[in-house]
Amino acid sequence: MSDLHELCYFKTRPITKEEYLVPLKAYLKAGIPATYTTEEAHNYEHGIEEEPESNTTPMHLICENVPGDADEEEENVVLEMMEQLWLNGAGWCLLNNKNETPGCVLLRRGFHGTKYWESCVDSGVRAEVLLRKLNDPNVEFLDDPLSEDASDEEDVPELVEENASESVQDMYNGPAGATDTYLNTKLEYKDDALVTKEGADGVMMQWEDELMKAGSESLFKHIEDPNDVNILNIGFGMGIIDTMIQAKNPTRHYISEAHPDVLKKMKEDGWYDKPGVVILEGKWQDTLPDLLTKGVFFDGIYYDTFSEHYEDMVNDLFDVVVGLLKPTGTFSFFNGLGADRLVCYEVYKKVVDLDLSNYGLSVEFQTMKAPVTTLKENDDSEDSVWKDIKRAYWRCPLYYHPEARFM
Ligand SMILES: C[S@@+](CC[C@H](N)C(=O)[O-])C[C@H]1O[C@@H](n2cnc3c(N)ncnc32)[C@H](O)[C@@H]1O
Repeated sequence: MSDLHELCYFKTRPITKEEYLVPLKAYLKAGIPATYTTEEAHNYEHGIEEEPESNTTPMHLICENVPGDADEEEENVVLEMMEQLWLNGAGWCLLNNKNETPGCVLLRRGFHGTKYWESCVDSGVRAEVLLRKLNDPNVEFLDDPLSEDASDEEDVPELVEENASESVQDMYNGPAGATDTYLNTKLEYKDDALVTKEGADGVMMQWEDELMKAGSESLFKHIEDPNDVNILNIGFGMGIIDTMIQAKNPTRHYISEAHPDVLKKMKEDGWYDKPGVVILEGKWQDTLPDLLTKGVFFDGIYYDTFSEHYEDMVNDLFDVVVGLLKPTGTFSFFNGLGADRLVCYEVYKKVVDLDLSNYGLSVEFQTMKAPVTTLKENDDSEDSVWKDIKRAYWRCPLYYHPEARFM
């Protein structure tokens, strides 16, 4: 084990600047990378040339060993050590041999919500915002003459690392990952789920009832004129939220839906004939811009689609939402962004907040207990809602229900 790693075990107390921060800075200054892993150190010591499969970094070790009884002074030293490591390129979402990010290690140890946890989340937000800037074709970067590959994407930590989670990659490769592939995939309504016929991706599941209830309530929270209540729901799925919206008798209830099998089911179930219901057939990207020119405004807009990414929201949806929302209106959405891991989930929570504020919207999150969670990759136990579903898409203990309104 290297001296840098040794330092992160906090074998002697108290944790002081002299004993810990000063040598940490010296190692980093001497050129030891902040991402130097114990696996690399082991291979180096034993003359093994293969690339290690996991990455237990100094940040993982700090998160694993920071004592729970540290006083404020010690805590501040640890936080400064973390800051130094972040500044020197430590990866907030690199995975150790237990498939954990540093944040996941803290969570397992019961350190959720501590300053150490916030440090991991903030580092993720910074990395995500930086990555977005680097990928923005409108932003030009000056080449650093000292570094040939200054703009090399590989050097930039990603929100979800390539090897962060196999299932995230699967998601991008299957129907859940590409809208057009999804729209050409046959769907099947089961008792308590809407799934893709081949591959059994869960499109919508009954366990989300509680979350839809919170969503439908948000949409009716700030009604401008009780005689002219206009609601828009994007993504019909099993019609759970639309049924809840109908029960509140809005004046007009717009539903945007793109999948032919879902539209067929909506016809069979009489949604086209319900008073005040307007079905917008096709992708929201194609149908909603039209409403902007027609002077239609909404008290509430809910968004919950499938196979789309955060880029779809930030690049296109938010533009449309601010154009269609009444000044008093509420925008809410199914918040599954980064829900594979709590630390990613909280990074996205902050990123969404930042992005919506650029549109003059402020978002509040109501913390709910997630109705189902699984820590297993494939939970096939008889009583699991994930039985026969390829990928458990929810693994967080909490759900952050968003409600956005103009500031
Ligand atoms: C998760 S389900 C919605 C579930 C719904 N909130 C409920 O309560 O049952 C997602 C729905 O969005 C639809 N969808 C996916 N992409 C779409 C798009 N670009 N435009 C409109 N609908 C889309 C899917 O076909 C699917 O019916």
